[in-house]
Formats: sequence, structure tokens, C-alpha cells
Amino acid sequence: MALTTALMQRLGMTSPVMQAPLGGGGDTPAMTAAVSGAGGLGFVGAAYMTPDAIGTAADAVRSRTNCAFGINIFAPQRPAPDADGAAALRSAATYFHELGLDAPEMPAGGEDPFAGLLPAALDSGAQVFSFTFGTLPDAAMRALKQRDIFIIGTATTVEEALALQVSGVDAITAQGAEAGGHRGSFDADGPGALVGTMALVPQIVDAVQVPVIASGGIMDGRGIAAALMLGAEAVQMGTAFLTTVEGGAPEAQKQAIMASGDNDTRITRAFSGRPARGIANRFMRETEATPGAILPFPLQNHLTRPMRGAAGKAGKAEYLSLWAGQGTRLSRRLTTAELMQALDRETEAALRRFS
Ligand SMILES: Cc1cc2nc3c(=O)[nH]c(=O)nc-3n(C[C@H](O)[C@H](O)[C@H](O)COP(=O)(O)O)c2cc1C
Repeated sequence: MALTTALMQRLGMTSPVMQAPLGGGGDTPAMTAAVSGAGGLGFVGAAYMTPDAIGTAADAVRSRTNCAFGINIFAPQRPAPDADGAAALRSAATYFHELGLDAPEMPAGGEDPFAGLLPAALDSGAQVFSFTFGTLPDAAMRALKQRDIFIIGTATTVEEALALQVSGVDAITAQGAEAGGHRGSFDADGPGALVGTMALVPQIVDAVQVPVIASGGIMDGRGIAAALMLGAEAVQMGTAFLTTVEGGAPEAQKQAIMASGDNDTRITRAFSGRPARGIANRFMRETEATPGAILPFPLQNHLTRPMRGAAGKAGKAEYLSLWAGQGTRLSRRLTTAELMQALDRETEAALRRFS
């Protein structure tokens, strides 16, 4: 692609497209490698992986491409507050029973995974490290910089972007309200910011000195061109990659995305305890309507994991976290390489219309 930005040059990219980390199995090494191989930047969404799994995934990416790729995990979180789980267990039991699972047990919070995962990310060979849900401890920032790893934080407001800049990140992903998956907001318990991508990107661009990556609702070359016009130096796209041939999401989720409309997604805490955008379904609606049914993050995520796993195998979308952004009508069933080619073509065509 003729178009370039300083960020693309810094990262050796010939396409402005970053494939969003799709934690929980949405991305695969084949997808990540295909995006990087096409001149973009592929990510491994490693937040729910073990350290060993991070090494295996990174090896699998490196066996497919020599190009740079990124690793993403969650910033360290405060321990979940004590919760009386009786109502949540009662509510979840209905769905566990319907799927033929044993009754759910109260999940243990356990240690925050960040400290255990960071060394694996550092050793993975990834040239880029991104994170969401806050800022990183100084020691982690130092360790990443010592390895010359490029650091990207996620902001949903100008205030969060400024805090990330002060912490020393190299670039900031501006995540608009349209985005699929978890909101990157620092405060898991608050109402959460819902500034749209169109409004958020230029306000963050004006407020910070580091490059900004636009994210949320971008599905094709028109969206990429628009984000570049707003001052972004690259885009990060999640939902558009979920339905690719290489996408690791359950087939039922891919079908739900292909069939859903512009107004079918909602922000919910029902699956994980943290606000996230996905296609509304029965579990989401009923759990939200049941008092006490949602434990704090990450306990609710642990609680619903067996249900989501069984539903994925059984092809039952009503129990799946159908994470997706507001652009679902623009989803396509292509290989990752075909999608990357189409995005480049469309972006150039969109930019040519005004040149
Ligand atoms: C299935 C799914 C999983 C996601 N997992 C992560 C993750 O692990 N880490 C992260 O920083 N962002 C994650 N995101 C959010 C993306 O980084 C990005 O903000 C979002 O996909 C952009 O909006 P779009 O889906 O409309 O393109 C996820 C999004 C989806 C749809």
C-alpha cells in the first residue's frame, strides 16, 4: 500500500491494519501470522493462557512468519471483593443443567495472572506488547523497554490516554464504544466510558504526543480511511477477523455474527463480571434480570467458563459470550489473507475518492 504513517514505519508495517488480540481463542497463530505476513500486525491474545501456552502460541506464529507480531495480556487487577455467590450459583445452575454439566461451584479468585504471564510474554519473541484495563507497574514497563519491546496501552477516555502517556507507553489504542469484547476502561466497577470512536480518536490525538491506533466498529477500508483522517496512525480490528477461516471462535459465534444486525449487540457484565460488548442472547438477558446473578470480575468469568466451553462444543449460541462490535453487518467470511488484501484495496479506493 502506498500509504504510510510514522507508526507503520517504526513497526515495519506496509498496511495500517492491526488484528486485535482476541483473548479466549478468537485469534489463532495462523491468523496472527497471516496478518503480519500481509504487512499488518497480528496479535496473540494471551490474557487467558498459561505461560507455557504463550510460548507454544508464539512458536507457532514464528514458525509461519519472520514478521513482527504482538502479545496482549491484561494489566494487573485489584483482587475481586468478597461476594456471596449463592444467587449466582443458583442462576448458573439452570444453564449448567441444560447443557448436561455438573452443578457449578463457587470459583476461587486466585492470584492475579499478570506477574506469571509477563516473563512468558517477554521471552515470546514478540516485538510488540499491548495491554488493556489500566496501566502497568513501573518494573514491568522497565522490563519491556530493556528488551526493546514496543508498548501499547488501551484508553477509552482522554484521561486514561494521558495516564498511559505518563506511564511511558509508545502508542495508545483508542477504543471507542462500538468495540466488541471487553471495555478497556481502567475502572471495572464504575459505569464505564462509552465515547464513540469518531469522537474519541481526534480528542486523544490532540491530547497526547504518542501515536494513536483507532479501534471499535472498523470493518472495512472506509472505516480505516476515516480513522486515518481523524489522526490515527493505524487501526485495530477485532470483529472483522473473528469470522475469517482462521478465526478460532466457535462456529456458532461466527454464524451469529454473520446473521446479526447493527443494533443487536449490548454491553453486559453477565459473562465475566466486567463490561463487554456482545450479541444479546438468552443467557445475557436472563442473567442481567436476576438479582445477585453476576459475581465480580474475574469470578464470573471463572464461573461461566465450563458453560461457555460446553456451549461452544454443542453449537448453542444462547449460552456463548458472543463478543462482537457494532459493525457486524459488514462481517465477511474470507481467509485472513483475502481480508487483508480487500482492506488494503478498499482503503486506497476510499482515500483516492478525495485526493
Ligand atoms: C472476541 C474478542 C476478544 C477480545 N479480546 C481482547 C483481549 O484479550 N485483549 C484486548 O486488549 N482486547 C480484546 N478485545 C478488544 C479488541 O482489542 C478491540 O478493542 C475490538 O475488537 C475493536 O472493536 P471491533 O471488534 O468492532 O473491531 C477483544 C474483542 C473481541 C471481539
